[in-house]
Amino acid sequence: MNVAQLSSVAEAMVADNKGLLAADESTGTIKKRFDSINIESTEEARRDYRETLFTTNGLGDFISGVILFDETIRQSAADGTRLAEILERQGILPGIKVDAGAKPLAGSDGETVTEGLDGLAGRVAEYVDLGAKFAKWRAVIKIGDHIPSRACIHVNAHALARYAKICQEGGLVPIVEPEVLMDGGHTIERCADVTEATLNAVYDELYAQGVVLEGTILKPNMVISGKECPKQAGVDEVAVATVAILKRTVPSAVPGIMFLSGGQTEIQATEHLHAMNANHAPLPWKLSYSYGRALQEGALKAWGGNNANRQSAQAMLLNRARQNSSACAATYTGEAA
Ligand code: 13P
Repeated sequence: MNVAQLSSVAEAMVADNKGLLAADESTGTIKKRFDSINIESTEEARRDYRETLFTTNGLGDFISGVILFDETIRQSAADGTRLAEILERQGILPGIKVDAGAKPLAGSDGETVTEGLDGLAGRVAEYVDLGAKFAKWRAVIKIGDHIPSRACIHVNAHALARYAKICQEGGLVPIVEPEVLMDGGHTIERCADVTEATLNAVYDELYAQGVVLEGTILKPNMVISGKECPKQAGVDEVAVATVAILKRTVPSAVPGIMFLSGGQTEIQATEHLHAMNANHAPLPWKLSYSYGRALQEGALKAWGGNNANRQSAQAMLLNRARQNSSACAATYTGEAA
């Protein structure tokens, strides 16, 4: 394992005031996003949309890497240039989602375990050949009346560590993503408890399996109220709770924590990140973004399935990337009127 190379890629991912664009929606998930704008999810439409995002001029000023789906890392733009090469020309690192999705956990009441370990070493080698520098695996932890179970947290943490070790051996920096969902009516305190238990289990397993933390990135949820909770925590409360739980659980050897947006609005996701960086420095790790919906929502609507709208979609994406970059620098001052 080349630890120096892994750690230099991880450092580049959290380069000052840069974050990741998560554009690795699986075929099922991108269909849902396209349904919201009444566009049929064909291979060509997916290509056109992602080509639109990746050809945004100046994107590399704010985005260090883009997480791709298997189809996308093999796809070429309309002019024949590989999409991964378009990113590289912008100084952006291509990454790849390598999990096979969250599947029902046997014997459990609606919980899931993320699959995809079978054959993973071989797929990692192929993705390295296709230009990938880092990988992503998302585990999903759901909060409910009697869940998450200890078993669910344990099996997901175990799989995350197995994935991380396989990626490091194959030369990819693993993004370790344990997502505690916002779905439900739970309080921010309950989210804090579940996030703390989950991150403790994840770092136990990473340690037990000899994952080199310097060559990893953590992609967690923020500690936040459930979407249906009548009492919604404010921006500062989310920042205080999130930083407290991360300090308790994430070793300082981890170079960066790059949050998922998880269903927050674009502006909430920026405000929360800003509040953490503005009010809680110094922290042992960089705090940045790896947003999917919170970077793409406006851009997707503006594109609307029509390449004639490419420029306005790109302007939306660039603006969100710039605002989140400001949130990393703790200089976000709100949205322009
Ligand atoms: P969201 O920011 O839309 O939650 O997506 C990030 C991601 O990569 C989820 O796996």
